[in-house]
Amino acid sequence: MQRRDNPYTPGAGRRPPTLAGRDDDLNDFSSLVEVLSSGGAERSLVYYGLRGVGKTVLLMELDILASEQGWATTDVQEVGSQADFRSTFAQMASRLLREMSRRHRLRDRIERALGVVKAFSLLAPGGVQLKLDVEAVRGVADSGDPEQDLVDLLREIGQTARAAGSGALFVVDEMHNLAASSLAAVCMAFQAMSRDALPVAMVGAGLPDLQVRLMKAKPYADRLFEYRELGRLADASARMALVKPAATLGVDLDEDVALEVVRLSAGYPYFLQEYGRELWNAAEGPRITMADLAEVGDLVRDQLARTFYGTRFDLASDAEQRYLAAMASLGAPPYASAAVARAWGAESQRQTSPHRDSLIQKGLVWSPRRGYVDFTVPRFADYLLEHQPIRGFDER
Ligand SMILES: Nc1ncnc2c1ncn2[C@@H]1O[C@H](COP(=O)(O)OP(=O)(O)O)[C@@H](O)[C@H]1O
Ligand SMILES: [Mg+2]
Repeated sequence: MQRRDNPYTPGAGRRPPTLAGRDDDLNDFSSLVEVLSSGGAERSLVYYGLRGVGKTVLLMELDILASEQGWATTDVQEVGSQADFRSTFAQMASRLLREMSRRHRLRDRIERALGVVKAFSLLAPGGVQLKLDVEAVRGVADSGDPEQDLVDLLREIGQTARAAGSGALFVVDEMHNLAASSLAAVCMAFQAMSRDALPVAMVGAGLPDLQVRLMKAKPYADRLFEYRELGRLADASARMALVKPAATLGVDLDEDVALEVVRLSAGYPYFLQEYGRELWNAAEGPRITMADLAEVGDLVRDQLARTFYGTRFDLASDAEQRYLAAMASLGAPPYASAAVARAWGAESQRQTSPHRDSLIQKGLVWSPRRGYVDFTVPRFADYLLEHQPIRGFDER
């Protein structure tokens, strides 16, 4: 068993050798593309879940699927926390058009659509960052009203795609980073796409509060998109994610090892990959046994502490780190913000609410309901209790 053959893929957005437990998602999405291609209506998809559950890699897979079915796709585009959404959408739009022009002979149609993209992007704060060798079209997507302009832009893309007998897929990751006004514009635009029965779809993904954020932005967002939660894998899928990549290379995991890793990882895809990688590296082969698992247990925990948790903990300021530790000290989630403030040592909640907001902004914490917070990273509380207990902060 050579290290260089190690098939496991712990990390962010690394395509796993076996995409376990997503067959239904792939099948459903494939029919969505078919329905839209033939002029039907189908709701776009929004996935939500904690960090490390496989949102990004699923998006990558759906992107590939759509392009195999002849659609133009944007590739997975991550929404940056500061960038204005108009630059993001302008970039995606020009990418879609470039793909269409490669596959279809619609020179004039695409040229005009690029002119619309240009008009749209000129209004994004900071002006054009796009190199588009066309004149901006006047009177479309240039009203200055972001909602209306995004509708115009997507309609242009949709009509071009329809003329090409194709479709267009927007793939938007970390979508919770979009401001409420941008989410509202996205809702408006996709509402218009379905009204006009245009072959344009979106797959979005983000942290668990994405659905609520969308609904706050536009009340009808609950019916506009189909929402799916991604969480831990069911036991059979988790086992498959662990066992199959090795088996494909002629290495068998003992059944008791598989069962124990499924238990230890609680079915979280990222944890499964981390165990898989260390087991592979430690084992002599050609079997992976309980003795190997005993050997790597600490290694995996260290690895998780340093990479998965440590790097995220380091994103927080001192006061925010104390806030995280205070959350973890409270027992079972979700945590009442008022109780966190007390555990933090604050005299009032007002003192800690900027820290809470900033942690939400940084994507470390989310609010499952008003007045409550929880971690966006699975098992963060266990890590904090062990490595960063709240009492340690008083000694600093
Ligand atoms: N369905 C799956 N089966 C096996 N491994 C997966 C699956 N989905 C994701 N992974 C692995 O889990 C890790 C996290 O995936 P990622 O898509 O980055 O999660 P998220 O975007 O939700 O934070 C990666 O190491 C990836 O290879
Ligand atoms: Mg991701």
